[in-house]
Order: sequence, then structure tokens, then C-alpha cells
Amino acid sequence: MRNRYAVANWKMNLPAEGIAAYAAALRPPAAIRMVIAPAFPYLAELRGKVTLAGQNCADQRSGAFTGEVSPVMLRDWGAEFVILGHSERRTLFGETDALIARKLKLALEVGLTPILCVGEDLKIRESGKAAMFVANQIKSAAPEGTAEVVLAYEPIWAIGTGKNATGAMVAEMVKELRAALARFWPAGADERTSILYGGSVTPDNIADLGQQGQIDGYLVGGACLQSSKFSAICEGVARLATA
Ligand code: PGA
Repeated sequence: MRNRYAVANWKMNLPAEGIAAYAAALRPPAAIRMVIAPAFPYLAELRGKVTLAGQNCADQRSGAFTGEVSPVMLRDWGAEFVILGHSERRTLFGETDALIARKLKLALEVGLTPILCVGEDLKIRESGKAAMFVANQIKSAAPEGTAEVVLAYEPIWAIGTGKNATGAMVAEMVKELRAALARFWPAGADERTSILYGGSVTPDNIADLGQQGQIDGYLVGGACLQSSKFSAICEGVARLATA
């Protein structure tokens, strides 16, 4: 059975209730993996309390790269995961498929589990090319070995907009993603890779996504900043229906 995930992407935000209260309030169900991705300076504060992810990392181990954070440093701070290729990194900071592929390779080399984000924008979806677009993103990030990589399908038009994809739409894309994994990634990746959905996930829309979406969890932005909401989403991950 694939691992099930609830991943909280705080982005450049902090929970209003405070970090200590937030962490103390979370009690993830045993059947799921709950991962928190704070901004880099807060990793140390959460270390030992929750499973941690970086929101990004450099494609180099060390060197003269002002402002960058190496995946080696992330691991030293206690992170086990790293989010890579988030659409905000791709669109606001110009990250290319080639750069993301280098980051993914290095993250795996140093023992981090990458959470690779893929997803189309509205124009691509409306042109009917979403499946081809995400398949290309998957192809260019293909890892070499069989170490775990988590995939997050995050349609850009659904991120932070309050407009989530429906369960049926997600199920259709998950089928395409698994086909791309079978085609471009090492043998067995299509079966073993956990696929998460991200994009305006809230406790109010997880019933449809969870029952219809054929997903293994959620990557959550806005709604993860309140421990009560994120806890409800964690409970939803424990109830997911997958074929
Ligand atoms: P959102 O963000 O839940 O606020 O839409 C999701 C994400 O960007 O990972």
C-alpha cells in the first residue's frame, strides 16, 4: 500500500496561533504521514515535534550561492522531505524543468524525499493539453533509482484561488500521471508513487476529492495555517478511498 500524506505548506506565512500551540494541537492519525513545510528559519523550532520538509532547496551541495539553502543543510536541520517545483517557484522565480530535475537528483542523493509538484495553468487546461503538459513535467524530472518520490498534482488555476478541482477532474489527471510514471520513470514507479492533490483544499471540499480523486493525500496551503483545519484534513487523509 502506498504512503498517505497530509503536507502543510506554510509558504512565507506563520500560523496565527503560534508555532508551539500549532504543533502541540496536531495529532495525526497513525495511518498517515503528516509533514510540515515551514520557511527555513522555523525548521529548528519544529524539529523533533513533527516530520519536516523544506519548501525548496538549491541544486548544489555548497558554495558561493548567496541566499540559497543546500539540501544537505536541510537534512542537517532535521528535514526528511523537500517540496520541489512548486508552481510559485516555477512562475514567480523562473524555475525550469531542468533546474528542478537537478534539485530532485541532489535531494535524493543526500537522502531527502522530494515532493515534486506538477500542474497546468488555466490556458493549458482550456486548450486540452493539460495531460501532455504534466506528462512532460514528469518526464523531465525522472529519477534514476527506486527511492521514494512523492508527486503532487497542483493545477495552477486552483492554487490560492478558492477554486478547487473536482474529484472527477483529479481522478482523470491521476490516471494520466500514472501513465506518465509508467512511461518515463523506473519500473514500478507508477504503482508505488503516492500522488497528492493540492489547490484550495479545505475541510469542506475533501469529501468529494477523497472519494472520487484516486489520490494518496493532500498538499495544503491556506487551510494548513490553522491547526484545527489542518487536523480535519489529516483525518480526511485517513479516510481516503483509493482503488
Ligand atoms: P492553497 O495552496 O491550498 O492555498 O491553494 C496549495 C499549494 O500551493 O501548495
